[in-house]
Amino acid sequence: MKREKPIVTCVVGARPNFIKIGPIIAALRDDGRLAPHLVHTGQHYDYAMNERFFVDLDIPAPDANLAVGSGTHAAQTGEIMMRLEPVLAETKPDLLLVVGDVNSTLAASLVAVKLGIPIAHVEAGLRSFDRDMPEEINRILTDQISRYLFVTEKVAIENLAREGISQKSIHFVGNVMIDALRKCLPHAKPARETLRAAGREPPDVYALATLHRPSNVDDDAVLSRLLDAFRRIGREVPVIFPLHPRTRTRIEKAGLAAKLEAPEIVTLDPTGYVEMLGLLKEASVVLTDSGGLQEETTALGVPCLTLRNNTERPVTVEQGTSVIVGNDAARILTAFADIRAGRMKRPRQPELWDGQAARRIATILGDTLCATSNR
Ligand code: UD1
Repeated sequence: MKREKPIVTCVVGARPNFIKIGPIIAALRDDGRLAPHLVHTGQHYDYAMNERFFVDLDIPAPDANLAVGSGTHAAQTGEIMMRLEPVLAETKPDLLLVVGDVNSTLAASLVAVKLGIPIAHVEAGLRSFDRDMPEEINRILTDQISRYLFVTEKVAIENLAREGISQKSIHFVGNVMIDALRKCLPHAKPARETLRAAGREPPDVYALATLHRPSNVDDDAVLSRLLDAFRRIGREVPVIFPLHPRTRTRIEKAGLAAKLEAPEIVTLDPTGYVEMLGLLKEASVVLTDSGGLQEETTALGVPCLTLRNNTERPVTVEQGTSVIVGNDAARILTAFADIRAGRMKRPRQPELWDGQAARRIATILGDTLCATSNR
């Protein structure tokens, strides 16, 4: 039986995936030529890391939830593969679409390629050149087996060309995370409301910090040093610190919980998307190891101290507000002092970060998949 429309199965699993898939599903629906299906691997499962983003970003409920939960890299990846295979075998999609660089991205891509289903990778070609990062392995391998590579910045085109990927497969479309930001910014929750709802007195000026990378939270000495740096900064401006569940667990296991009790550190549970946008927009400076926040601060023009030794998103440093400071306290404090003294970068909006990336993706996929299925 001929299908009415080609099916695109979109797979998501972790918090940043949800933000990216929201605009893509909306654009596929607006375009109308393809039928999006949504599969959630269940890599992230807490309400605050998961459902809340579906509500904030108006993402339809998944058609299937694989409920894999947490585990070692091999266990999580293997479990996703085993549970996704029968879903794809039954749906027989014309395309699998994945976003970003989390374990769900690679696991889903491996299943699809072995079933002969072409893959579209959104946010392809980013490289930190640090193979100790699990995400770098996920990026390289997903790109190698993808047929459509949608990139957010031009350096990604060079990275992919160096790895032997045909230019014909690469499409520079802009950044779907910034599509979500532009759409939701008018609904951003004011920081004072988020803080009051958490029982905290809202400060006039604050720094916003997030941490979750294994390189920062899995080593007790590094984690302790970063918390000390946050406390030093907190003596000048309070540091609002929403805690990723992984980071909270690591702080407790390392016996560092007392460092969070200082009045200059304001911890919060993980926030929803509209709360985070409000906190970001009003922050004087953001300290983070998150890739998404590097991009969002660039789009918002808020100074960002990137707590890593590299970035796979160099446009946020070259044109945006990000300064790479690693996890060395002296370097972090010097960069913070520069921002306090008004020595800040003047950001430019990166090319095509205009809120239209998902629409470009839907057009390219609609044109090619419909042409193929009509043949
Ligand atoms: C994952 C991604 C990372 C991304 C991040 C965003 C990989 C390899 N890493 O890291 O690239 O930047 O998501 O958040 O895919 N946990 C909960 N509740 C949840 C989810 C996780 O408590 O809903 C805890 C569990 O203890 C779990 C730990 O967080 O073991 C780590 O979760 P996991 O999905 O393995 O990796 P993240 O650190 O979240």
